[in-house]
Amino acid sequence: MIKKNKTNIAIVGLGNIGSYLYKYLIKNKNYLSKKSNTLSDVLYVSAKNKSKKRKLSIPKRKWLKNYIDATRDKKIDIIVELIGGAEGPAKKLVFAALKNKKNVVTANKALIAKYGDKLAKIAEKNNVNLEFEAAVCGGVPIIKSLKEGLIANSISKIYGVFNGTSNFILTSMDKNNLEFKDALNRAKSLGYAESNPSSDLNGEDVASKLKILTALSFNSYINNKDISVEGINKVDRVDIKNANLLGYKIKLLAVSEIKKNKVTQRVNPCLVKKSSYIANINGVLNAVIIEGKPVGETVIQGEGAGPQATTSALVSDILSILKGEKKLPFMIPDKKRKKIYFESISNKKFSAYLRVDVKDKRGVLSDITKTMSKNKLSIKRLIQNPYKSKKYSSIVIVTHQAKDSLLNKTVFHLSKKKYLIQKPKFIRIENI
Ligand SMILES: NC(=O)c1ccc[n+]([C@@H]2O[C@H](COP(=O)([O-])OP(=O)(O)OC[C@H]3O[C@@H](n4cnc5c(N)ncnc54)[C@H](OP(=O)(O)O)[C@@H]3O)[C@@H](O)[C@H]2O)c1
Repeated sequence: MIKKNKTNIAIVGLGNIGSYLYKYLIKNKNYLSKKSNTLSDVLYVSAKNKSKKRKLSIPKRKWLKNYIDATRDKKIDIIVELIGGAEGPAKKLVFAALKNKKNVVTANKALIAKYGDKLAKIAEKNNVNLEFEAAVCGGVPIIKSLKEGLIANSISKIYGVFNGTSNFILTSMDKNNLEFKDALNRAKSLGYAESNPSSDLNGEDVASKLKILTALSFNSYINNKDISVEGINKVDRVDIKNANLLGYKIKLLAVSEIKKNKVTQRVNPCLVKKSSYIANINGVLNAVIIEGKPVGETVIQGEGAGPQATTSALVSDILSILKGEKKLPFMIPDKKRKKIYFESISNKKFSAYLRVDVKDKRGVLSDITKTMSKNKLSIKRLIQNPYKSKKYSSIVIVTHQAKDSLLNKTVFHLSKKKYLIQKPKFIRIENI
């Protein structure tokens, strides 16, 4: 915990986020000092390539020889880690910083999701802060809300749209009638997607955020094993159109809930009713919905990524430390965090959207329905779209509720059929 007249900060990583934060901290020095009643200074910076051309000018004296020096320098009180990635220099830096009793602020969800429990233990032992508001949903202040504003509540469910890039792509496919590839290129050209957006598209980015929020919501340790993760990379424009016809929108949802002392965590694209709140979260926006007692339902919505929104979260964490607020990374002491039971979603019931594109042949439809009934799946709605010129049909089925394991089994059996044009599509329907 620090509360002194001058606090020195080191920023390690000067990419999209680090360079914006550096400029913000320099420009708003007086504002920060008013808010915290203390002076702060960015004493050192570091990045991988010192001679890289950057859109900001930093005095030579501020450059560290090696990023790890920030963890050893007695003058440094706060290290802001903005390198990224769960391993490599980010991991080395944050472990060394906490071991050397430096306060750490990070935007690194991958690192916190993987090593957050170990890091929190070191921070607690050494009486320093490990803050990671910026790691989850950028400018949406969900970490502080869970740790402070909603602390009175017993939370039963936390869910929402946690990835701006994939939400932007789904919205563009829907509203601008774009193919996945074109929507992704649009996101890249507007700076919403990184040159390698794989973790945004395969659900991993959202999964890291959900694991962190689950641990905070249910006072548990982070669970990396029992989580079902799918991204949006298999959703195409035809699915979006079909969803619209059926009265739904497709969203990449993250959901964590506790029922009878068992927690399930899942990240997957799903169909949500057009009239629902979540269906109307468009573009790069993120939204987090928390259900708890006694508060009821709380919604927080905002920009989920980008330098401005992320800097808003980073500065909030930096100010907490400047003000001398001692906080445990996961709100309660390590020993009081619970080992709760997590279970897979295989026993959970969903109704689902299935799309089976098949060769135009006799007997195909009855074989599909037979395969479904063998797996105890019943049909709520069926639409057959024949594409005569291309000699195939697209069969769209909405199932009644069934166990997730049976839905998956059916898809597996259907995917073996010789009459298929492509793998069947399976998207769960969420009643939210
Ligand atoms: N971008 C977003 O919208 C966003 C939103 C929320 C959270 N985040 C998180 O914020 C963090 C930073 O993201 P970003 O978009 O700013 O990434 P970025 O643009 O790729 O920047 C990474 C920075 O790390 C530096 N770096 C790499 N290896 C290093 C090393 N060995 N020693 C010192 N510096 C090293 C790079 O140096 P060079 O400049 O010399 O290459 C670069 O400045 C990540 O954890 C990310 O998940 C990002």
